[in-house]
Amino acid sequence: MNNLLKDKNILIMGVANKWSIAWAIAKAFHEAGARLAFTYQGERSYEHVKKLTQNIKGSILIPCDVTKDDDIKNTFEQLKEEFKTLDGVIHSIAHARKEELEGLYINTSREGYLMAQDISAYSLVSVTKHAKPLMTEGGSIVALTYLGGERVVKNYNVMGVAKAALEASVKYLAADLGRENIRINAISAGPIKTLAAKGIRNFNTMLKEFEEKAPIGRLVKTEEVANTALFLCSFLSSGITGEVIHVDGGYNILGY
Ligand SMILES: NC(=O)c1ccc[n+]([C@@H]2O[C@H](COP(=O)([O-])OP(=O)(O)OC[C@H]3O[C@@H](n4cnc5c(N)ncnc54)[C@H](O)[C@@H]3O)[C@@H](O)[C@H]2O)c1
Repeated sequence: MNNLLKDKNILIMGVANKWSIAWAIAKAFHEAGARLAFTYQGERSYEHVKKLTQNIKGSILIPCDVTKDDDIKNTFEQLKEEFKTLDGVIHSIAHARKEELEGLYINTSREGYLMAQDISAYSLVSVTKHAKPLMTEGGSIVALTYLGGERVVKNYNVMGVAKAALEASVKYLAADLGRENIRINAISAGPIKTLAAKGIRNFNTMLKEFEEKAPIGRLVKTEEVANTALFLCSFLSSGITGEVIHVDGGYNILGY
């Protein structure tokens, strides 16, 4: 145990199964001494989260569909009861309809656009608003994003536009809450094989191209993303807010 998060109360949102980036973050935070609460969406995720967390003593499990205001409200009411105060939130949530993650962006439907924005970007705003009153000692909120929010990435389409909104929200929220000692940052992770990633057409080709081109010459590991999240939720990053930190082996610096 490195004690970086000793006695810190952290909410992890977005564990679907053992491949989830949020799960790697949860493991790193547990090892660093944090007390953890998890939100999950749907029965299937509940079964996975329950099983995964059985060895993490004192874990709190709360259902939360971020499209529902009442779910978000209830999550933080429950956290207030259990934790009293909150030190960190990991927002590792995104969703778009599979049919919008292929072909041309121009074909995005209004419904698909709104759904991707609601789940993947607006949710951070609402979660931050509800987390704020519990972060009486300051806090750190970390969202997960991807290069497709900055540049055009084939098939990423509507999710790229949602990530752009998420990254802009990180900056606006950071400006809103900096004086309350609440920091908000994002990690832009390289492509990792997870349930959400499977929805992107030709994701395996993306992985191969990444491996060939990335300066580090390999894929990024979820543990590497988790370590950066740990840094962002610890005192080590106390001067950093409103940033998007790339954990992508240098892929984003390339012009070819
Ligand atoms: N896998 C990658 O290549 C990659 C790269 C960069 C960024 N990211 C981002 O990382 C985050 C986590 O994704 P992941 O790759 O670990 O996949 P994942 O499928 O394991 O996690 C996505 C999570 O979003 C949750 N979710 C979807 N709709 C929801 C809703 N309405 N309410 C509450 N939760 C909802 C799912 O239940 C799931 O737990 C996402 O923001 C994703 O865009 C992923």
